[in-house]
Amino acid sequence: MSDTTGLAPAWTLPARWYRDPAQYASERAAIFTREWCLFTWSARLAGPGAYVAGTLAGYPVFVIRGEDGRLRGFHNVCRHRAAQLLPDGAGAAGRLIACRYHSWTYEHTGRLHKATDFGAPLDPDQCGLFAIDAEEWRGLVFLRIAGGAGPGLRDWLGPIDAMAADYPLETQSYFMAKDREVAVDWKTYAENYLECYHCRTLHPGLCAAMDIDRYRIDVHASDRFFHLHAPRREGGLTRGLYFYRFPFLMLNLYDWGSSIATIEPLGPGRIRHINWYLFTDVSPERAEENRRAAEWSAEIVSEDLAIVTGVQRNLDAGIYDRGLLSPRHEQAVGAFQDMVRAALAAPPARN
Ligand code: FES
Ligand SMILES: [Fe+2]
Repeated sequence: MSDTTGLAPAWTLPARWYRDPAQYASERAAIFTREWCLFTWSARLAGPGAYVAGTLAGYPVFVIRGEDGRLRGFHNVCRHRAAQLLPDGAGAAGRLIACRYHSWTYEHTGRLHKATDFGAPLDPDQCGLFAIDAEEWRGLVFLRIAGGAGPGLRDWLGPIDAMAADYPLETQSYFMAKDREVAVDWKTYAENYLECYHCRTLHPGLCAAMDIDRYRIDVHASDRFFHLHAPRREGGLTRGLYFYRFPFLMLNLYDWGSSIATIEPLGPGRIRHINWYLFTDVSPERAEENRRAAEWSAEIVSEDLAIVTGVQRNLDAGIYDRGLLSPRHEQAVGAFQDMVRAALAAPPARN
């Protein structure tokens, strides 16, 4: 453990930042819509017309595979009178995307194909779907609402791409998901994830599996990601690689499977915690073992959510405003808070 006795503790962000609707609106404009957000996985989008629809940062969106094999993302809104084009979830749209309200149809590229029985000429180029960015990385599908507003996905991932190269994500298949809606701000959750000061108190199972005294979180400030190291105990976890990419991508990679997690902010002090478990072997014979591994990992998240729900309640209540961060254990929390401040200070997106 490095000597941090000379370092002054930093102050946390003010409690108001975790509950204020105006703050949330600023974060939505400056962060959630401008960063790549994990949305789904590629296996759900196997052939032309396959789509996945859902929400991202409060926007109904969908991603669809075109005849050319490319993925494209759109707001899930018809240009006629704003109907939701595709139902939420995964499905097949066919050769055209047909609106269920008045039957306008769109191509997979988003171009208006036909304004059925409209009664006046329309310029298809003026009535296409609102596009967003969509890209794939190693079987994971990411979207970015503010189309074209920044680096491509691989550049955005930065060194993570090379560091994760020898983990066989492509050979792993989806096994199960665990989504939980919780009354916790996205920053409250992130800050808990980015320190292990609490591990000894909250995570006995985790401490049994890894050498908590040697747990480290490297801050890669300019690339805005964190590399979490957890040396295994004898007989504990196998080789693993753990990342947190700002604002809320969590990758836990193993040779035999992965836990891929993200946060969908739903409002001030409210998130959906989304976790997918992938395994190399998803045969029925392995199902019980896989389920146990996934539940073991989900239990650690439950332990965290239980405590941070109480944290959020106190941030909402208004007695506590700010606290001090441990220079020994909470430097990554401070770095995360700097990233939030910097993102909010950045110039606004072009759209
Ligand atoms: S709202 Fe889609 S066709 Fe009318
Ligand atoms: Fe934790």
